[in-house]
Amino acid sequence: MLLSKEQREALWHQVAEAIENYIETVADERVTPELDPMKIRALLEPVDFSEPMNPSDAVDFIVKGLSKYQTHTPHPRYYGLFNPAPTPMGIAADALVAAFNPQLAAWSHSPLAIEIERHLVRAFGTRFGYPASDTDGTFTNAGAEANHTAVLVALVRAFPEYGTKGIRSLEAQPTLYVSSESHHSLLRAARISGIGAEAVREVPVDTDLRMIPSELQSQIRRDRKAGCAPFMIAATVGTTSAGTIDPIIPIAEVAEEEELWFHADAAWGGAAVLVPELRHLLEGIERSNSITFDAHKWLSVPMAAGLFITSDAEILEKAFRIPTLYMPKEAAGLDVADPYAYTIQWSRRFIGLKVFLSLAVAGWKGYEETIRNQTAVGIHLKDSLQAHGWEIVNKTPLPIVCFVDTEHPQGRSIDYLDAIAGEIVSSGKAWISTTKLGGGKPALRACITNYRTDGSDIAALVGDLDWARGRVLGM
Ligand SMILES: Cc1ncc(COP(=O)(O)O)c(C=O)c1O
Repeated sequence: MLLSKEQREALWHQVAEAIENYIETVADERVTPELDPMKIRALLEPVDFSEPMNPSDAVDFIVKGLSKYQTHTPHPRYYGLFNPAPTPMGIAADALVAAFNPQLAAWSHSPLAIEIERHLVRAFGTRFGYPASDTDGTFTNAGAEANHTAVLVALVRAFPEYGTKGIRSLEAQPTLYVSSESHHSLLRAARISGIGAEAVREVPVDTDLRMIPSELQSQIRRDRKAGCAPFMIAATVGTTSAGTIDPIIPIAEVAEEEELWFHADAAWGGAAVLVPELRHLLEGIERSNSITFDAHKWLSVPMAAGLFITSDAEILEKAFRIPTLYMPKEAAGLDVADPYAYTIQWSRRFIGLKVFLSLAVAGWKGYEETIRNQTAVGIHLKDSLQAHGWEIVNKTPLPIVCFVDTEHPQGRSIDYLDAIAGEIVSSGKAWISTTKLGGGKPALRACITNYRTDGSDIAALVGDLDWARGRVLGM
């Protein structure tokens, strides 16, 4: 298991070279792989672990395999679901984390790593407008865990006995409120927290796909009359399909009036807070009780780095603390807390380092420029699509474009749009997808997820869409 010094040096060299080569050449490759499970299983069949493999051959096997069998999310023509090209500092961070292998369950085992994460939670919390003294939070595996954390803390806030006596101790059915365009991780959080998916009320959206606050208010009142116990509202700040932002201030007002936990799912759109001319889109987010923000989306760190941030400095401990006798005690008496005592995870990887190193090297300014540039590329994509007979069907200043084909009678049907996306994806030229907006209107979707995507990629995508259109119509 322990390779010799010479073997290790050769290994690091080979890995560094493979990473650099991938970054340099990924744009010249297909974006998408051939999807043939039998071929992939046949490739793995000879690796039965009976004979030790030479380290160089093992790495080579994986580098070739991943190059061939992966949708290349770091490719500038991947217009996908928020999966970025990772920053070089983020890649380096993950390698360092693997080598130092800090265990972040207990403060005394990893004091620097835990303080770095705390420092980042505060830095982002204050950027969102929380007061530094009240800001608390944790890195999570990803956005779904951050949303799950939000549901659990909101339950504990509303029903203090939920953590000890469980859902059966509650007299009324807890209900939570999201828009019909929200991410389904909230629905799943309701399932796995024991309140059930039917506890989630999907509030209707307006023609811009934003939650309607008056409908929210009416639904809460109806539920109270029916004997339910509303406990949480989650606004979406950048929806997954269309990048729209719920009206934060009116929703905050409802939450305050109804005394409900107000969560902002800003997994992707939260990055707009770093750009002065986009900051106003998030006005009111400082009135939330908690925020989900994913650094592995628009901050382009390697997967995954979710953040759950809250302005209630007590709530995480209330929700998660369980006394143990066997965990390290060296930090007892210091003004610190052990992450295992205030988060879902127990053993913890040093998730925050990729954010710390990326931000330290780019600075807020570097991120501001990158996000501004990606937003401008999104506007360019919208204009180019319109010039080629596509109609934009979502309204957002953020770089997600949903579109249909107005040049052909079938151009709004899901079969036609799926066929277009299918042609593009199977050709390997780019990755785009289809979605349904506002309860069922089909659309193609392309998102600028990659900081390397530029005008030439947009021109290529628009050309590819014309090509795909021709093929679908010629079928
Ligand atoms: C708005 C929103 N919230 C939450 C999530 C879940 O995040 P993750 O995939 O990082 O768990 C996503 C994922 O795309 C999302 O778009």
